[in-house]
Amino acid sequence: LDINIELPTVQSEAAQKVKIGIYFATWWALNVVFNIYNKKVLNAFPYPWLTSTLSLAAGSFMMLVSWATRVADPPKTDLDFWKNLLPVAVAHTIGHVAATVSMSKVAVSFTHIIKSGEPAFTVLVSRFLLGETFPLPVYLSLLPIIGGCALSAATELNFNMTGFMGAMISNLAFVFRNIFSKKGMSGKSVSGKSVSGMNYYACLSMLSLLLLTPFAIAVEGPQVWAVGWQNALAQIGPNFVWWVAAQSIFYHLYNQVSYMSLDQISPLTFSVGNTMKRISVIVSSIIIFHTPIQPVNALGAAIAILGTFIYSQAKL
Ligand code: 3PG
Repeated sequence: LDINIELPTVQSEAAQKVKIGIYFATWWALNVVFNIYNKKVLNAFPYPWLTSTLSLAAGSFMMLVSWATRVADPPKTDLDFWKNLLPVAVAHTIGHVAATVSMSKVAVSFTHIIKSGEPAFTVLVSRFLLGETFPLPVYLSLLPIIGGCALSAATELNFNMTGFMGAMISNLAFVFRNIFSKKGMSGKSVSGKSVSGMNYYACLSMLSLLLLTPFAIAVEGPQVWAVGWQNALAQIGPNFVWWVAAQSIFYHLYNQVSYMSLDQISPLTFSVGNTMKRISVIVSSIIIFHTPIQPVNALGAAIAILGTFIYSQAKL
């Protein structure tokens, strides 16, 4: 009798682990491809407000087509759903554009080293804005995270203040995005069912696109884009269009998969998975872009990432 009762649980737990493992591996692989094409585009066309907008536009378009062709079932949403989504979309838009501005100014690896400090922001926001307290080991784990990021920033060969601040703003914005998203995905929609990770992210892209477009036009604008586009085409050739398509499509795909996993796991597991993702991005971008890196700079990154693991253990 025992076997009959326990077997399905053991099997479903194992199946769940395999599923999360596949989500994580796919998320990281898609993210590496996004980061490489995004930087290739930004090197030739330094207009991060437009590339950020195109990433959201590509995702919105792909999801509208998927709903229209019934490849995916459209979600049943009401006004309350969109109202609750608004703060998430504001945070997503700010975090996204800030990270892209950062990557237009500094090496991809540097942006991601600073972004590996995101757990420290989670603790500070939860402590000072939400009044949550943590055991002492959690606070202590912030020392290597903050110290490691600081060491990397101080020894970065191509340091740039906009690049640094963009990554810091992105960290702050994404902490709010993740806290609000998890709440939003567990809430009920008009159909009485919650909106799943994939559709939740689709709605998030669409709302963020509406928010970002007027700012992108105000900050950069069509005239600057037209000139920049001609220059990039002259420099790279017709392949440039494919690079833009790749960065936009892969941006949507990696985020969609990450939201499908956030749906299944805690925000803590999510942020640890996200830090591990950054290791693959940092290593692959250093190799592909031949980023000059000093040993002490790499040491800072390693300390910050190690701090995240200590943090995840301390928070359990
Ligand atoms: C973006 O453009 O939104 C950033 O590259 C996102 O960074 P992250 O998803 O790795 O935090």
